[in-house]
Amino acid sequence: MTMSARSASLPRVVVVTTGGTIAGASSSSTGGAYTAGVLGADALLAAVPELSQVARVQAEPLFAMDSADFTDVHLLQLARRVAALAQRADVDGIVITHGTDTLEDSAYFLHLTLKTAKPVVFTAAMRPATALGADGPRNLYEAVCVAACPRAAGLGALVVMNGAIWSGRDVIKRDAAQVHAVQSPYGPLGWVADGGPRFYRAPCRPHTLASAFDATAIQALPPVAVVAAYGGMDATAHEALAARGVRAIVHAGWGTGTAPAALAPAWARLQAAGIWLVRTSRTGSGPLPRERSPGWLCADDQSPSQARLLLALGLTQTQQGAALQALFDRY
Ligand code: SIN
Repeated sequence: MTMSARSASLPRVVVVTTGGTIAGASSSSTGGAYTAGVLGADALLAAVPELSQVARVQAEPLFAMDSADFTDVHLLQLARRVAALAQRADVDGIVITHGTDTLEDSAYFLHLTLKTAKPVVFTAAMRPATALGADGPRNLYEAVCVAACPRAAGLGALVVMNGAIWSGRDVIKRDAAQVHAVQSPYGPLGWVADGGPRFYRAPCRPHTLASAFDATAIQALPPVAVVAAYGGMDATAHEALAARGVRAIVHAGWGTGTAPAALAPAWARLQAAGIWLVRTSRTGSGPLPRERSPGWLCADDQSPSQARLLLALGLTQTQQGAALQALFDRY
């Protein structure tokens, strides 16, 4: 096969860029402050000429931002853009470059709301593109290798970083500095080896085509907030959020998602005002016992930010406590 015949038969992968450290630049190659999201999509691709050996890659700039600035509006925009790309017959897989800080939120949201079996792979970097030993180019290469592979289809949104492949269902950023920043309590789904994915397990909870949610059918997400527990906490933050119209508050509690007993009257007032309270754990893993707090929803093993997104999606479809709890039990 000639070179051009071979490249014409390669899978077609679109790289949607949203910013983050992977597109970050600094005046120093050895450390110090940098600005996230300043490198354009074409520059990101140009830094990895090896991409042309594994896929026909096309850049699709969407945002150029620090992921800390993502809102629910950005999440919906991203999901809708990826949904539209996934519908195209000339697209075999999609890669999304993203900041690591809220990567897990976007990956989980697309895992739940995309109606496609095509590979959708997030990637990111801990070192800006100008750094000595930048991890972005290799992460981008490996993400494209995974997105170009039919074996990555039907697994929901994936995250590829530092050679590992994670499920969008439970990936979490667990390190503020190292290139192996993202993890999952359940370990990776597989690894990237010899220019492709090697999978060892698959997500068993519903996602994408089996999920009840479709980003293209949602106009806006209802406001759901997260409040972290601390010793001696009071309900000032909760009351302020209630006054601003939140529909639910996710409590990032200790251990099994515990909350101070002294706040029982405040919880009762919030519930009487129609605000859902959700118990989650700041420990980062482990299924929570369901029966502990009557009237509260229990987030099973979901992190506070995952619970926030799942509940916001659930509230677009139901206001029934049993149906909302069933979402946490199922997803
Ligand atoms: C960001 O999340 O946009 C900045 C931090 C990072 O990408 O590591």
